[in-house]
Amino acid sequence: MSHIKMNAAKSAIALIPKQGAMGLGSGSTVAIFAKELGQKIASGEANVSVVPSSYQAYQLAIDYSIPLTNLDLTPELVLTVDGADEVDKELNLIKGGGGALFQEKIVASASKKLVIIVDESKLVDHLGTKFHIPIEVFPFSLGIVQKKIRQKGIEPILRQATKKMGPVVTDNGNFILDLKFQEPILNPNQVAIDLKMIPGVIETGLFVGMADEVHVGTEEGSYILKK
Ligand code: A5P
Repeated sequence: MSHIKMNAAKSAIALIPKQGAMGLGSGSTVAIFAKELGQKIASGEANVSVVPSSYQAYQLAIDYSIPLTNLDLTPELVLTVDGADEVDKELNLIKGGGGALFQEKIVASASKKLVIIVDESKLVDHLGTKFHIPIEVFPFSLGIVQKKIRQKGIEPILRQATKKMGPVVTDNGNFILDLKFQEPILNPNQVAIDLKMIPGVIETGLFVGMADEVHVGTEEGSYILKK
């Protein structure tokens, strides 16, 4: 699998600007991309700084000596490269498998171009086919958010940590609910709006109309889906 992710990451490497600020997404595919980006910077081919979308991305930048910036210094980013958990035919996304959706969406929204790197298994006809929809929830509101979500006929599953007892706590100090819909989602935009209208829901992992290109890694190489 890692060579398929490598094929996706390498495809996006060609888009790295000669200079400027870009967003660095999160996840295992982005980790491969970050290593390549670090090499391009070290060789002098690119003079780029990044806004990290998570503590993981921040650590990747440190590990690979990638200069850091932030959205106060550089509120407009040339490009963001990020991963995804599902991609539908309109290039709408589910993100948040690694719990980093809130900052990822902010970084993506600051970018002129959002490029997603995935392996082919992430492509679906409709979102919610294989993956649950993660939402970031303010801990104080957990009970009432769960109740309102259940009233919509959706099962909210509180994401549990693996090397700590209790729930996952995000980079922002919040909880994650993974939403199990009864059917795949036909109108992700409306679902995203409805979820965000619930007080206590900080952000959803539905990225609707945000991705410009999806670079899909395969066994043999890669191909690009465009909006
Ligand atoms: C992080 O919370 C996610 O949005 C990731 O970008 C997404 O889960 C893809 O990760 P992988 O590249 O590890 O599959």
